[in-house]
Amino acid sequence: MADTLTFLGIESSCDDTAAAVVRHVPGQMPQILSSVVEGQTALHADFGGVVPEIAARAHAERLDHCVEQALTEAGVALADLSAIAVTAGPGLIGGVLSGVMLAKGLATGARLPLVGVNHLAGHGLTPRLTDQLPFPYLMLLVSGGHCQFLIVRGPEQFQRLGGTIDDAPGEAFDKTAKLLGLPQPGGPAVQAEAALGNAKRFTFPRPLLDRPGYDMSFSGLKTALLRARDALIAEKGGLTVQDRRDLCAGFQRAVAEVLAEKTRRALAVYLADAPAEPALAVAGGVAANSLIRAMLETVSAQNGVRFVAPPLRLCTDNAAMIAWAGIERFRDGARDDMSLVARPRWPLDATAAPMIGSGKKGAKA
Ligand code: KG4
Ligand code: ZN
Repeated sequence: MADTLTFLGIESSCDDTAAAVVRHVPGQMPQILSSVVEGQTALHADFGGVVPEIAARAHAERLDHCVEQALTEAGVALADLSAIAVTAGPGLIGGVLSGVMLAKGLATGARLPLVGVNHLAGHGLTPRLTDQLPFPYLMLLVSGGHCQFLIVRGPEQFQRLGGTIDDAPGEAFDKTAKLLGLPQPGGPAVQAEAALGNAKRFTFPRPLLDRPGYDMSFSGLKTALLRARDALIAEKGGLTVQDRRDLCAGFQRAVAEVLAEKTRRALAVYLADAPAEPALAVAGGVAANSLIRAMLETVSAQNGVRFVAPPLRLCTDNAAMIAWAGIERFRDGARDDMSLVARPRWPLDATAAPMIGSGKKGAKA
């Protein structure tokens, strides 16, 4: 079929080096022919965060291997591709540059069109790759680097309602784990401890719930946890196993309640437009948290809205979402050329207020 598109996607904006091949025949479910993700966790483990120079070098060293592997696994040659899609931002600039330079070289050598993709659009359009979700839908992006509400109206139409003004929730989970001597990544470790704890023993704040709007803040929560921990240590000389479980449970419930309440508010705005098939979609590693997921499901059900959570391997950073976002942009008429620039910051919604600060994985937007 003339309109069949087969895209190579390349992703290198954070600490995952990834390449994937996605094929789309109009009217059919998109097919992920391959999706290769090489994490860099071990490379950064000693530094308590992602080191941009180490990340950039690893991307430069591993990207071509990932691309080769993705093409081989898909059984596709460069000549079979319709175009190359690459993350052009936002993110750690050294990594983004590695991907953009490789994509430009491949596109020139193989005479293929090039499509630059916003990493956040990749996450934002994933529910269409996995579930063919119709526009418009409400998207909550919650990961170690991102936290925002978006009304997704089209491949390039994102309305940002609000997001975190400091830490992303995943960052807060990771820092909490560090404060309590739990392993990284912190989210799964804190969740496992919380399952055995009493969420009512410690009263943690629910930041920004007292203010209207959709902005969130998670860094104060981490400070509150630090104070509670230090008070226990001062009182008893250390933490018991149960203290740790209760601290984790209290922290997790506070994050979940903030996300649920802000989602309720964001849904009200989204639903005011009376979308034909209303849906709430989530993406990002924190969407794996069972309490958060359960609470978001409940909020969706209470509002008569479908809840869509793509499989975790597509919720976290990957290149299939970049290939897919490239396909969507391409069908919309978008083309880039050798003037494509790598951008450390690239807000999806240029009309929204700029986001403050940088996360552990680079600029927040
Ligand atoms: O989307 P992701 O893989 O990477 C980026 O941040 O881009 O998300 C990773 C984050 C980490 O901070 C990790 O602690 C968190 O997701 N996470 C969780 C859970 N699983 C992963 N947070 C809470 N509960 C979980 N079960
Ligand atoms: Zn991401």
